[in-house]
Amino acid sequence: MASKKIVLITGANKGIGFEIAKQLAAQHKEYHILMGSRDADRGAKAAEILQKDGLSVEALVLDVADEKSIESAAQTVESKFGSLDVLINNSGVALDSRTGEAPTRATFEQTFAVNVIGAALTTEAFIPLLEKSVGARLVFVSSDLGSLTLRADPHGRHSNVGATAYRCSKAAMNMLALQYANRFRPKGWKVNIHNPGYTATDLNAHSGPGTVEDAAKNAVRLATLGDDGETATYSEKEGSLPW
Ligand SMILES: NC(=O)c1ccc[n+]([C@@H]2O[C@H](COP(=O)([O-])OP(=O)(O)OC[C@H]3O[C@@H](n4cnc5c(N)ncnc54)[C@H](OP(=O)(O)O)[C@@H]3O)[C@@H](O)[C@H]2O)c1
Repeated sequence: MASKKIVLITGANKGIGFEIAKQLAAQHKEYHILMGSRDADRGAKAAEILQKDGLSVEALVLDVADEKSIESAAQTVESKFGSLDVLINNSGVALDSRTGEAPTRATFEQTFAVNVIGAALTTEAFIPLLEKSVGARLVFVSSDLGSLTLRADPHGRHSNVGATAYRCSKAAMNMLALQYANRFRPKGWKVNIHNPGYTATDLNAHSGPGTVEDAAKNAVRLATLGDDGETATYSEKEGSLPW
């Protein structure tokens, strides 16, 4: 274990986060995956499924909307591993309707609490541990619904989708990721943004046409970039996305 690279994925008890954990652990035996879950039981059950397949994973309780939980998770990782090599900010909520255009204050606050502030405060808490890694990797699981360029085109991809609070949160997450990309560029960190594509998960009552297998691929690639890999990019498995 001491020689393994340590990866933390937030919201890995199900959906795309779970699949990223599965693919990373299966394809990269040199990695040990901490599967973040805000609920201890859900996290333990998810980790058990992958452990039964012989994969190097374990659950870590982490509610990104709760500072105490973030702090406690960082302390646990520090005392068990002493450093962190890869952080994948995957936790997310989509609370407003895909067709509706009238989000409430509560919808905005709850969406930003997880998708933006949660990702920011989790990243901040783990920076001291990432600084102990040789060339950290950060992946922000965003969405093409956060692309300003696509939204400015009346015929652009998903032009019929409302989801205003969610769209705004993912646009903000993209800026957040770029802030970290520029802050840690001098240290050689690779900080990139991943779009999973519209995927069948609980987030959208399994309405998405895509599979979690496909949705995880580009995140796994970004998490394992070499020293010559890109930073400050916004991409999906088909290639780069317009901002
Ligand atoms: N599915 C899509 O079509 C799609 C498209 C583009 C982007 N994405 C993004 O992909 C990411 C994963 O979504 P998904 O589709 O896999 O959805 P999902 O199946 O609903 O999974 C979301 C994950 O986030 C966790 N989460 C929610 N609030 C949290 C909190 N406060 N603290 C920690 N974890 C929290 C959930 O935990 P619980 O089980 O406890 O709720 C769950 O593990 C999200 O960021 C989403 O915005 C999804």
